[in-house]
Amino acid sequence: MAEQIKVLLTEKEVDDRIQELGDQISKDYAGKEVHLICILKGGSFFMCELAKRITVPVSFDFMSVSSYGGDTKSSGVVRIVKDLDESIQGKDVIVIEDIVDSGRTLSYLLEMLHDRGPKSLRLCTLLDKPSRRVIQVPVDYTGFQIPDEFVVGYGLDYDQKYRNLPYIGVVEFV
Ligand code: IMP
Ligand code: MG
Repeated sequence: MAEQIKVLLTEKEVDDRIQELGDQISKDYAGKEVHLICILKGGSFFMCELAKRITVPVSFDFMSVSSYGGDTKSSGVVRIVKDLDESIQGKDVIVIEDIVDSGRTLSYLLEMLHDRGPKSLRLCTLLDKPSRRVIQVPVDYTGFQIPDEFVVGYGLDYDQKYRNLPYIGVVEFV
């Protein structure tokens, strides 16, 4: 079966919304510094574009996680594949994710990061599928709420492909 991508959010829609999020974060963190934590690989494009639009001092770090057991996410336990390089103690931290789906990954991750003593800890996601939520997670900044469809682009993949698309699309099998 061949795959074809149907545009859900255009490049301009995504860029405009990221500008708004950047403005909002710059306002909310006025007089402070913000430390972004990018969740690899999906959060990478979003974090770069967002960071460029934040006007308060920005530092950032990367973390890579995977669900235990590979195919199943049911345990809600995530394995750290690559940990942060720097301590987050005393920092104003924002976790940058591509999408919140069941909420399992973020729920686990936020609890773990909280235990490391940041001054504050917030979550910013480009996409949110609220209808899929199994565990509630506090999302502070959301780019777009989307329906329950499998999306790719702007960092999101299907079988490691399509991360480089500059828009958000839905995979269709034809
Ligand atoms: P959850 O919130 O723990 O269920 O998992 C979220 C993760 O699942 C995201 O960080 C993505 O890596 C992946 N994911 C969930 N929905 C999609 C999608 O529509 N497209 C691509 N990846 C997705
Ligand atoms: Mg992800």
